[in-house]
Amino acid sequence: MSKFFLSILILIAVSFSACSKSDDVELPTENEQTGSDENNNDDPSTNESGRYLVLYASRSGNTKSVAQLIQSTLDCDILEIEPTTPYESDYNAMLTRAQAEQQQIEQGYYPSIKNSVDSFDGYDIVFVGYPIWFGHMATYMQSFLHQHAEKLKGKSIALFATSGSSGISTSVGEAQRLTADARFTQTLLLTSSTISQMHSRVTEWLSNIGAEKGESSNNSMKIKLTVGDRSTTATMVDNPTTRDFISRLPLTITMADYAGAEKIYTFSPTLTIEGTSLGHNNPQRGDIDFYVPWGNIGIFYKVVNSNSQLVNLGQIDGDGIEIFDVPGSVNVKIEQQ
Ligand SMILES: Cc1cc2nc3c(=O)[nH]c(=O)nc-3n(C[C@H](O)[C@H](O)[C@H](O)COP(=O)(O)O)c2cc1C
Repeated sequence: MSKFFLSILILIAVSFSACSKSDDVELPTENEQTGSDENNNDDPSTNESGRYLVLYASRSGNTKSVAQLIQSTLDCDILEIEPTTPYESDYNAMLTRAQAEQQQIEQGYYPSIKNSVDSFDGYDIVFVGYPIWFGHMATYMQSFLHQHAEKLKGKSIALFATSGSSGISTSVGEAQRLTADARFTQTLLLTSSTISQMHSRVTEWLSNIGAEKGESSNNSMKIKLTVGDRSTTATMVDNPTTRDFISRLPLTITMADYAGAEKIYTFSPTLTIEGTSLGHNNPQRGDIDFYVPWGNIGIFYKVVNSNSQLVNLGQIDGDGIEIFDVPGSVNVKIEQQ
């Protein structure tokens, strides 16, 4: 069982000059002025599983409550992301600064943050939570994603947010632009009218994205794929369909090319989907998926469209997908590591 340690680097404070202008989005209400400015210790608590990491930004505690619920449900690591310079206790000054930071971001300048994570290796899902500010992801979480884009390459990110009533979609677009090579799961938004349902909504969401408390990814969820004299490994996602797939290994199969985008193989009998959540948003090059209507697995060497009938089984590690990025069919040996 692996144990992951995060190193926190304290960065030098850089503050922006304020220049405020109203955006055409809902403004926060007065009762959001009660946010605490307490200084939280930002050492992450590290558990034994290491499968999930919850990162969150929170000024007045709403997103923090959701983050802590996810953390306690999954018994996983958690880290609060903080601005280098704490936000002003004067509410209007804080709003002015937040707006100015958003405008600076649009010019390519990101506010300074306290925290840095050395590596996300070993985390199956990185949860990223933040409040919606002026319709956007809170500025300093944008900074975090901007600074960690390279390290988050290929990782699964689960976005969650809280807001007065604004939607999450603008911030999802921001996250996707900031970490273009990450993969995104279904998201969770709790507004002031749904925050009271936090427990049921979080439980349902975690189940939908296949996140559950348990053992870490270990060798039993790793597979090796060999084409000719070239081999690669893949890290599999733990769900009933993947477990059925792994139970059929080792396999030596011919995978046909489909649409110049994937290598496919149809199982007979088909793989089970009982207990597995269907749907895969933003499949990436290197993903291994099961396509329910046709009963085939596909190894994508090109990006394909989101599809509600796909189940993600895992992803080829590193640049290993190159062995499948060849014309025509391939003979593949697949074995459990
Ligand atoms: C600077 C600022 C901007 C905000 N902008 C919006 C907004 O555009 N739409 C909205 O619904 N809520 C907005 N809110 C409300 C917060 O999104 C909401 O209260 C959130 O739950 C706060 O999360 P926190 O307690 O984790 O900081 C804003 C709050 C602040 C402080």
